[in-house]
Amino acid sequence: MENKTYPVSRRRIRSNPHIRELVSTVNLSHKDFIQPLFVDESVRNRTAISSLNEVNADSIDSVLHQIEDDLLNGTSKFLLFPVPSKKTEEHFDFSFVLNAMQRIRDAFGDTVWVAADICLCSYTSHGHCGVLNKQRNKVINDATVQILADYSLQLAQAGADCIAPSDMMDGRIEAIRHKLDNNDFDTVTIMSYSAKFSSQFYGPFRDACKSIPGNDCSLKDRKTYQASPLNGKDALFSALRDIGEGADIVMVKPSLPYLDIIYQLKQKTLKPVSAYHVSGEYQGLELLAIQKIVDREMAHTEIWTSLKRAGADIIISYAARNAKTWIEKIKY
Ligand code: PBG
Repeated sequence: MENKTYPVSRRRIRSNPHIRELVSTVNLSHKDFIQPLFVDESVRNRTAISSLNEVNADSIDSVLHQIEDDLLNGTSKFLLFPVPSKKTEEHFDFSFVLNAMQRIRDAFGDTVWVAADICLCSYTSHGHCGVLNKQRNKVINDATVQILADYSLQLAQAGADCIAPSDMMDGRIEAIRHKLDNNDFDTVTIMSYSAKFSSQFYGPFRDACKSIPGNDCSLKDRKTYQASPLNGKDALFSALRDIGEGADIVMVKPSLPYLDIIYQLKQKTLKPVSAYHVSGEYQGLELLAIQKIVDREMAHTEIWTSLKRAGADIIISYAARNAKTWIEKIKY
């Protein structure tokens, strides 16, 4: 036989599912997932969120049932978002979420890991992530940080394993770390939403939290505190700064439009990186699946795989509770 020298490489490692599995460079595991939960003070029973397919707003009682079901499906890590029934501008009342956190801890002990989102946007009547100045055209950084640090301590006292500030104020990681350490909560972790971009993809979440910014004030968007999509370096800077202030985990958010940031951040730090596949990204896939343009399970797992390939250690997804079932089924 003629000794063929070209092509040297053939598609041998793609030729069947066994070899494709053996040579894969990404190993998806449901153990790396965090499931967001919405607890809404104004709902009595589990209520569908219309712009987030298959995601519900829960009462405190129904969230306990949800967690029970999720544990059976192999989901044990959660990110808690409160939706208080009253909006205000000052003297925030955090009792609803503190109660929710305490009830979850009492019911499930250390079988669950619960992170608490820390932000004011679901509390404020204007929808911004902090308190506004008198002219109502600017978020006041330092006063907001003080409130967030006190709020974080209260959540740690109620049983939070992790504090996850999503407000994007400067200096909040250091303030929260000090507050926790000075009160014997030195083992509570901080996951900082640090490379958080001002994005189109938060729409369904803002519906769920009733936190669209701009009500009765001239500041209509979050561009003065969230990073610009035009400046990846600024987002990376925030993440590295937050690590310097004591963040244990740094997040990139949204995820798919910012794979380059996930990749770069992973190269620049030894800290774990989390990627948040946010509400608009999730719902986009759900709508494609509803229209039968993609297979729901395959589409979500393909996106998750891309986040892992880019360098994410942890994935936050509204479909996290399906991760175990879907990942087991998937054959590439
Ligand atoms: C609050 C917050 C937001 C998200 C998480 N925490 C929205 C925002 O900044 O308006 C978005 C999550 C999602 O869209 O899934 N600051």
